[in-house]
Amino acid sequence: MIRLFLYHYSMKKVVVFSGAGMSAESGIQTFRDSDGLWEQHRVEDVATPEAWRTDPDLVTKFYNERRKRILESVPNAAHREISELEKLADVHIVTQNIDDLHERAGSSNVLHLHGNIRFAKSSGPNQEREYFEIDGWELTHNDLCPDGHRLRPHVVWFGEAVPAYEDAAEVLSKADILIVIGTSLQVHPAAGLIHYASMATHKYIIDPNANNLSVSNDFIKIAGGASEGIDQVMREIQKIVS
Ligand code: APR
Repeated sequence: MIRLFLYHYSMKKVVVFSGAGMSAESGIQTFRDSDGLWEQHRVEDVATPEAWRTDPDLVTKFYNERRKRILESVPNAAHREISELEKLADVHIVTQNIDDLHERAGSSNVLHLHGNIRFAKSSGPNQEREYFEIDGWELTHNDLCPDGHRLRPHVVWFGEAVPAYEDAAEVLSKADILIVIGTSLQVHPAAGLIHYASMATHKYIIDPNANNLSVSNDFIKIAGGASEGIDQVMREIQKIVS
């Protein structure tokens, strides 16, 4: 027991900060690419508390479609490689994604900054207290919380607080190695989290658009898709952690 603990304690802490591009190769749309979700939907109509107040059925339908798509998808090679890394390092994932593909690939420590679409919560005043796993992909107007309010997706909308932010900042602040992958870093406060990784001796950013993303110059930029980029980073990390 003691030996196991010491082994884990001495492992390098690798933090993966992921965004929508992480799941692009699984067939899940990103938000801000030219074929992204926000090209087809107005954020104000589907992803704000005001949208829920105005038309909860439209918001529910939008997230039902997302949930259905996610349930039909499977983790890609990049999700799987990150999960494999747990054999060599103490891996923590902070994801902006509401899909559960990191978990389905086998990753153990996944913090969802913007919620998890497989769950619902009350739309009433106590909404942060309890989450309910949704059976299947469809949430309807008949699905109510025990407090009598209608259930809404467990997703952080624009204009809402990010309850997991402080926990995420704590995780990032302990990173020895940081891998940022598949995020445009345009949404705050999430994007600011990377600044907490001040102890990290190695920082990578993987994105087809990496060369245009605004990060400090201690980041190694890998301009490519998630699985190709992770492959390259894994080869380097194996040398660092072994
Ligand atoms: N592999 C890796 N990255 C990719 C790939 C790929 N195959 N394809 C696209 N990308 C990159 C894009 O170049 C872009 O930089 O993924 C990034 C996706 O950026 P966004 O669409 O802005 O998604 P994200 O940064 O995760 O958005 C943050 O915004 O809409 C909200 O709450 C939502 O969590 C989301 C947040």
